[in-house]
Formats: sequence, structure tokens, C-alpha cells
Amino acid sequence: MFDNWEELENSLKECKRCKLCTNRTNIVFGTGNKQASIMFIGEGPGADEDLQGEPFVGKAGKLMNMAFDALAINRKEVYIANIVKCRPPGNRNPEQDEATACLDYLRNQVILVKPKIIVLLGSVALKNILGQEYGITASRGKWIEKRGIWYMPTWHPAALLRDETKKIDFIKDLKLVIEKYKQILNN
Ligand code: URA
Ligand code: SF4
Repeated sequence: MFDNWEELENSLKECKRCKLCTNRTNIVFGTGNKQASIMFIGEGPGADEDLQGEPFVGKAGKLMNMAFDALAINRKEVYIANIVKCRPPGNRNPEQDEATACLDYLRNQVILVKPKIIVLLGSVALKNILGQEYGITASRGKWIEKRGIWYMPTWHPAALLRDETKKIDFIKDLKLVIEKYKQILNN
């Protein structure tokens, strides 16, 4: 574990801990406010993210931005990262060995950001952060508190592209996040 961002970011350069290193263009480390109260965790980079080196800049990211706009969340105020930092080929889900190899980096990011709230975007984020026993359909929209952090599992933004009703859920879940954030600020 590193106690500063520079050392952590340096430790990732040239990372070959898992086989996803072979096809990547860029490592997608994470972006946003390094002292954010709210952190968003996705799955892994897609094609656009791989090319630009930033999370959620493609189609799924655009949807997320629309939700942020609707709820007056400033994207720059939150911190956004993924379970794996290199693009899985063909946008498949990260395999367990890849997620396990990469998770130390994300844990270190969480330790440095110290968020009060973590939004888990989809099943891969949920299972790797809270445990394989969790399912996204049953868990979404419900708070889970662990070691002083409030977790809100919700749909992955890419799922919203396929199913309109999930957009409504997504906005609802993010509303809960804002409410909780305001509560925390007032305490
Ligand atoms: N999907 C993700 O899970 N993360 C990204 O950064 C982009 C798309
Ligand atoms: Fe390293 Fe993570 Fe990329 Fe695998 S996905 S090579 S562990 S940075």
C-alpha cells in the first residue's frame, strides 16, 4: 500500500500483473476529486476509455453524465475508477484472476480518497467489492454499510442502454446517494 498518489500511480506504470496488460493502449487509473465524499466504481475500460486513458468517456459514460446533469452532480467532484484498469478484450467481463490481480490498486485508491459513499456500478463491481454472494438485481437501491462506508449498488450504465426501466432505477438510486450525502454533511 502506498500513502500517496504519486507512488501509487507510478507503481501501476508498466503493470503486468495480469494478462490484460497484453492488449491495452492505456492503463485507466481513475479520475476526479481525490478527496471526494462519493466514489463510483465501474467494471473496466471499454474501447474509448482504453484509447483516452480515462474511465467512462464512451457511450456508458455519456449516459452517466446525463444522469449526473439531471441530478446536479458535478462529475469533477466525485472520484471514478474501475475494478480492472486495462481493457478486457471485446469488452468481456474481467475474469476472476484479473480482478483479483488488480484489486489492490483500487483498494489503495479507496484508502487515499476516504469516500463516505461508494456507488457500485453493476454486478462485477458489487461482487468484487462486497462479495460473490451479492446479486445486483436483489441488492440495487439498498444501502449496505461496512466499516464506516455506505455502499449503494446500482445498475451499470451500459445496462441502461439496453433497458429503459433501468434508467428510472438508476436515477432513483443516485437520488438516494445525494440524500445520504446531504445527511452526512449535516452531521
Ligand atoms: N464501463 C466501465 O465499467 N467502465 C468504464 O470506464 C467504461 C465503461
Ligand atoms: Fe495490471 Fe490491473 Fe492492468 Fe491487470 S488490469 S495488467 S493488474 S493494471
